[in-house]
Amino acid sequence: MSKIIEIEINAEQFRKAFLKYTKKAFEILPKMDKPRILDVGCGSGIPTLELARLSNGEIIGMDIDQAALDELSEKVRKLGLSSRVKAINCSFFELEFPDESFDIIWAEGAIAPIGFERALKEWGRVLKTKGFMVFHDDLEGKEKKLEIIPNGGYELVDHFQLPDDAWWIEYYEPLEKRIKEFRTKYNDDPMVLEIVKKYQNQIDAYKKKPNAFRSIFYIMQKIK
Ligand SMILES: C[S@@+](CC[C@H](N)C(=O)[O-])C[C@H]1O[C@@H](n2cnc3c(N)ncnc32)[C@H](O)[C@@H]1O
Repeated sequence: MSKIIEIEINAEQFRKAFLKYTKKAFEILPKMDKPRILDVGCGSGIPTLELARLSNGEIIGMDIDQAALDELSEKVRKLGLSSRVKAINCSFFELEFPDESFDIIWAEGAIAPIGFERALKEWGRVLKTKGFMVFHDDLEGKEKKLEIIPNGGYELVDHFQLPDDAWWIEYYEPLEKRIKEFRTKYNDDPMVLEIVKKYQNQIDAYKKKPNAFRSIFYIMQKIK
């Protein structure tokens, strides 16, 4: 039942509004035929599937959340993409891939636990020389990160910031509207109210510190 409610609330629908930025970042890369792409911390695969739409390559979505990976596998099966998209349970602290096995490493909203510098270094091992690393990251620490990129053996190809209010306008505001409806409709159902509370806590965290939710894409090329 809780899964049905999650599907009805459909927060993914609002997350999908950000795929225009995924597309914008992808289009900055040079055209590649059948690139091998690793989507690190893919969750249920919203960017992973967009990368499959944008390229003719092989995409590996990698995460430690098996429920999210199962959701991704189910979508992949329904979309008939099983020959090109795989969901793998693996931690980004221990990438189990040979050196230089990917043309592109993509990570949206995933690098905070490992940190920018360590991600470039450790994930860079599995990236081909001249391959691309694309991060959708918090805006905080931008100046320091712009210094880390060349020091870590990468060239900054481009970067762009999302509009300051993007997370409010495209995600938290419509999500708040949606969960208000659920609060009214299921006001005597503790299970639904628990799910609603989880989302409300995220919205409240945004309202408390909206600046912490500003985000940026970095498009980088490994040069050595
Ligand atoms: C904010 S979500 C982003 C999901 C997806 N990239 C997106 O943009 O919709 C962060 C993801 O990182 C994953 N994650 C956290 N620690 C991880 C680890 N050590 N290895 C792999 N994935 C991890 C979480 O399970 C979660 O799915």
